[in-house]
Amino acid sequence: MKPKPPIIVCFLISLILSLSLFFSLCSFKITAHPPPQNPNSDLRIRPGYATYNSYIQRQLNKTLNPKLRKIWTTRDWDRKIQVFADFFKDLKQKNLISNESKALCIGARVGQEVEALRRVGVSDSVGMDLVPYPPLVVKGDFHHQPFDDGTFDFEFSNVFDHALFPDRFVGEIERTLKPGGVCVLHVALSRRADKYSANDLYSVKPLVKLFTKSELVHVRKVDGFGLDTEVVFRKIKKEVIQGS
Ligand SMILES: *[C@@H]1O[C@H](CO)[C@@H](O)[C@H](O)[C@H]1NC(C)=O
Ligand SMILES: *[C@@H]1O[C@H](CO)[C@@H](O)[C@H](O)[C@H]1NC(C)=O
Repeated sequence: MKPKPPIIVCFLISLILSLSLFFSLCSFKITAHPPPQNPNSDLRIRPGYATYNSYIQRQLNKTLNPKLRKIWTTRDWDRKIQVFADFFKDLKQKNLISNESKALCIGARVGQEVEALRRVGVSDSVGMDLVPYPPLVVKGDFHHQPFDDGTFDFEFSNVFDHALFPDRFVGEIERTLKPGGVCVLHVALSRRADKYSANDLYSVKPLVKLFTKSELVHVRKVDGFGLDTEVVFRKIKKEVIQGS
């Protein structure tokens, strides 16, 4: 048998070496990124904010963007109000909100959802955002709401992904809701939100954990401007006194 030319031997040796390197890298990659195992890992805070002020500045940058504000108040205005009104009519049919409810929309920007609530008959509605937009939206930080305990019957938000401290975001909702009050969140579970997001949510489990003073009412799929899931909580009426 004729010996193989050296060039072929070299080729075979390097092929074997690179294949084994490839497979060892693959197995490293798998062990370096285990799938989420506990409920907490379904909620991940995005890194990169050195201070609370730098986070607020970044949020303001989107909210104050003149081009976006123009779109929100012109091209988007009627279309979005219509979609929000349909969501709120559905919640009315389910008796989760009524004309008499005192309602808050968190992170409302220019207040399309507030306008929608008022149009379906929930006249005592207001929005809150870092930048006010009178008369629909007052100034406030959802990490530290400017409202007394037990103020609202209903709170709505589609900006959970912007919360740098999800426990405070939820804690403030539970503080300012009346006992029996309802919170409706629209969140994205199956797609990642925009570059201004401060967290990524992969299931409703972390929300159920964060709402310590509420019970889960329902979870359903929706089509809400890139957000795919509606999660509804009701604040429990009586404090459960431990050990009594
Ligand atoms: C805000 O956005 C503009 C344009 O995208 C950018 O030039 C500016 O540096 C940003 N400012 C902050 C505080 O992030
Ligand atoms: C609630 O308000 C809407 C709009 O003003 C009105 O059409 C509707 O009849 C009201 N519903 C009740 C139960 O009063």
